[in-house]
Amino acid sequence: MLKPIIIAVDGYSSTGKSTFAKMIARRMGYIYIDTGALYRAVALLALENGMVDGNGLLDEEGLKALLYGPKPPCITFKVSGDGRSRTFVDGRDVEGEIRSMYVSGKVSRVASLPFVREFVDGILRKIGENRGVVMDGRDIGTTVFPDAELKIFMTASPEIRAGRRQKELAAKGEIVDLKTVLENIRERDYADEHRPVSPLVKASDAIVLDNGDMTLEQQMEWFEDVLGRTCCHGSQD
Ligand code: DC
Repeated sequence: MLKPIIIAVDGYSSTGKSTFAKMIARRMGYIYIDTGALYRAVALLALENGMVDGNGLLDEEGLKALLYGPKPPCITFKVSGDGRSRTFVDGRDVEGEIRSMYVSGKVSRVASLPFVREFVDGILRKIGENRGVVMDGRDIGTTVFPDAELKIFMTASPEIRAGRRQKELAAKGEIVDLKTVLENIRERDYADEHRPVSPLVKASDAIVLDNGDMTLEQQMEWFEDVLGRTCCHGSQD
């Protein structure tokens, strides 16, 4: 039997990481984990618990007490009948809420806090302890699993990504003009790349996938080619 590996799919927001990572997870027969959903769930908890004031200021101590208190929130994923993964907080389906602009506007700030990253990393390392997972995020190949056997770094121009994001939001009934979406993308890029802890950076051993003008089929062909060249994938148990 082939030894299961960890595949880290990192990169900028709205590069289609989750679609691509889900497809390769299916191809490999692996579990797929959307790590951004965990940061989004934590941001939602902060908002719901009144930890963000009118000026956007975050009550860090309050959030720390919530995450590390006697009853820490339990964030889980469930795959529904149509194969989609949904995020739950203490058994409550929060998938819709965590994708809203309301949460998107706060999540980078929340994800920049070292104690939040530690909380999320703990969950991720537990999930990946038996390998056989595809995780998409920002720092999987650099911080969470620096020993991942295959690391992919996804990118595309901010304009192309904004167009994709706008369509995604519109499909869910959230109509936002392109300029606002582009601003949000640029802000998130900046925040992701400049945070002092685990900034978004390509791991030195990651392979870049610029999918700006690639179809999903072409991305899968690219993956098959990369997989064929990944030494560890061929090793036997
Ligand atoms: O991939 P996404 O847009 O759903 O991610 C939401 C936020 O979480 C984004 O601001 C980046 C952050 N994030 C992170 O810092 N590290 C990860 N591994 C995944 C996401």
